[in-house]
Amino acid sequence: MIDLALIPVAGRGTSLLPLTKSQPKEMLPVGRKPVVQYVVEELIGCQINRLLFITGSGKTAIENHFDTDAELIDYLRVKGREEELAELAFERDEAEYFYMRQRRQLGLGHAVLCAEPFVRKQSFVVALGDTILGLRRRSEIVRRMIAIYEENPEIGGVIAFDEVDAEEVGNYGIATPGKTIDTEGTFELRDLVEKPSVHEASSRLAVAARYVFSPLLFEYLHRVESDAAGDIQLTDAIRAMLLDGHRVFGVRMRPGEGRYDIGSFESYYKAFTDFATLESMGDLEKM
Ligand code: G1P
Repeated sequence: MIDLALIPVAGRGTSLLPLTKSQPKEMLPVGRKPVVQYVVEELIGCQINRLLFITGSGKTAIENHFDTDAELIDYLRVKGREEELAELAFERDEAEYFYMRQRRQLGLGHAVLCAEPFVRKQSFVVALGDTILGLRRRSEIVRRMIAIYEENPEIGGVIAFDEVDAEEVGNYGIATPGKTIDTEGTFELRDLVEKPSVHEASSRLAVAARYVFSPLLFEYLHRVESDAAGDIQLTDAIRAMLLDGHRVFGVRMRPGEGRYDIGSFESYYKAFTDFATLESMGDLEKM
């Protein structure tokens, strides 16, 4: 049973400057929690209890957030502030937290490769720390992906996909889907292209920030060349895996499930507004 997730959080978040100058984008508030807390709670809800953050410079606020702050707990207890104490319940999750540094900004594929000495021969989840899945309730897509992966032990991976508008395809890895394998629309991936133009894109199915991988992925991450910007792309390693004949499946997000990619001010404002609105109506799932 897969119980390990890598959470890449090393990116500088330059598209959200000046907000992210000295603050990780993964720590931006969305309603009453920082972005990355939603990601962690989603994973824990899918029985992932080992969380390895791939961090970088300027990201220590993330480590502090998931530490148990005994001094703060004592202070609130002594003062009898039970409601505020309850807001720290997430600190008592059974999960184990690990941190590794990506010492140079060489792309998402490189960030995942940094974890190889820790992961070694295990299968694992990758969950991008800047994307919240699920609005009214936490997404369980990772649980579905793991089930499909475990039913098909020979495959190289399972990737989450969401249908995006034509003008958005250039921001994502885009699938060329092959045959459908179940009633939920799970498909065999034929190809994957990183940030194609609308004309090049063979669908509007965008990689939705969650992946399950066989440790075989590392071989391909070692092999792929950097792109024009000098980045090692995770998408290119997946593509190389497919070209070599390994099977990878795509799982679709359910309609209305909710996906918030905190990659621009527009999407950040939308996330904040949606969560804050539901929060103020008392309509969000509690921990
Ligand atoms: C990354 C991946 C891309 C994926 C996206 C999901 O892009 O490279 O394939 O669709 O995350 O959020 P980034 O957002 O880091 O540019």
